[in-house]
Amino acid sequence: MEQLLERTKSESGGRYGRSIDRLNAALGAEISSTLQYIYLHTIFEDAGYEHLASIMRSISIQEMHHIEEIAERILFLEGEVNMNPSFATRRIKDVREAFEFAAKLEQSTIDSYNEYARMCAEENDAVSQTLFQEMSAEEERHLDIFRTEVQNIVDYGSQYLMMQSAAHSKNVAKKNKSHE
Ligand SMILES: [Fe+2]
Ligand SMILES: [Fe+2]
Repeated sequence: MEQLLERTKSESGGRYGRSIDRLNAALGAEISSTLQYIYLHTIFEDAGYEHLASIMRSISIQEMHHIEEIAERILFLEGEVNMNPSFATRRIKDVREAFEFAAKLEQSTIDSYNEYARMCAEENDAVSQTLFQEMSAEEERHLDIFRTEVQNIVDYGSQYLMMQSAAHSKNVAKKNKSHE
């Protein structure tokens, strides 16, 4: 027990100082992604694009789980949690631009997490390594979803969006009728 504590505290900034820095960098990216996607959820919902709005909502919630997991790991390593976004939410209104931006964001997160996982492995921090690997796999799923939507918009354009608006109007009418 004592030996474990000794190892944790042996270097300046702690045995896991570099892991903590990486985890905090990831935390900032996750907070920004959460906010960006929930912002896009509200924009799409307001426009009546129900399918796109629900994609953004569910991925935003998944990123929020990442925030929680990363913060817990930092605290376990006895680090300070820097609960701040790494960038301000972009006010994107165009659907294609939104999904292209989201795909880019996921790709850069995947690149960073792969690199972080490798560095954590080098420093024998296997649990942080696994955390980065697992999150990276989830970000790849997000990337896949965002790429599919970019492709749908490219292939079907405004028709794709109109179909969603029409479905939304139908649902609103149905809900309204149930109040009769
Ligand atoms: Fe994430
Ligand atoms: Fe993601």
